[in-house]
Amino acid sequence: MNKPAFRTEPVSFARRGGKINNRQQRAWDALAGSHLLDFPRLANDTSIDPEHRFDQAAVFGRKARLVVEIGSGRGEAIVKAAADNPDTDFLALEVYIPGIAATLVAMQNQHVDNIRIALLNATEALDTMLGPASVDELWVFFPDPWRKLRHHKRRLVTASFAAQAARVVKPGGVWRLATDWQHYADQMLQVLEHSPDFASSGDWDPRFDGRVITRFEARGTHGGHSIRDLSGIRLDPSTMGS
Ligand SMILES: C[S@@+](CC[C@H](N)C(=O)[O-])C[C@H]1O[C@@H](n2cnc3c(N)ncnc32)[C@H](O)[C@@H]1O
Repeated sequence: MNKPAFRTEPVSFARRGGKINNRQQRAWDALAGSHLLDFPRLANDTSIDPEHRFDQAAVFGRKARLVVEIGSGRGEAIVKAAADNPDTDFLALEVYIPGIAATLVAMQNQHVDNIRIALLNATEALDTMLGPASVDELWVFFPDPWRKLRHHKRRLVTASFAAQAARVVKPGGVWRLATDWQHYADQMLQVLEHSPDFASSGDWDPRFDGRVITRFEARGTHGGHSIRDLSGIRLDPSTMGS
């Protein structure tokens, strides 16, 4: 069945304030043509034509491990990780234009070339853009917590999101999560525990040392919140149930 040309589900983001400063505009002008992915849209400017496929080898011009970060914000984590791991390809999925612009500035400052950015609702990337079993690591760090009960339906990390993640993460690959919001952390733990596709410890992980402290994490810590790291290892479907 064809997808409708409009969204029928609530999205996990609220786009506010699209203004970027002069420095960000200069980085955008210099890098967007080569590092911001261009693809056909479907319903609006955060959607993607479901026929479009991400061709990692063509985009990066090489074969390498692929790390995908959903909701990369200002790019603090992904730019540092890309600078530290030049042999890995990184794909940032983000809908917030000033965040993307800040990421481009950081890429320029740190001379990082192994990141591409898609201005895209990440769930659509999981559904259609990314190939099955094509991702080595999937990162979801400090997703919007949607604190109010009536907004919980907008949270990204749910059982159905886990199934979408399972489609793209390769067997043995890792899905990493972090949050400072305990109620959401508990939800994430349950999602991992109940997922038939990921193996998890059933407990919090030690802090992932590949993650720098972003302003969201710092805000949580200053607010007295515990930072919770979690992860799941993608099970191999060919050996599952055997
Ligand atoms: C609270 S911020 C955290 C940013 C970053 N991970 C950090 O730790 O600093 C969450 C980010 O996720 C983005 N986001 C939320 N839902 C998204 C979606 N479905 N697709 C892409 N980006 C999304 C928001 O625009 C926002 O920039």
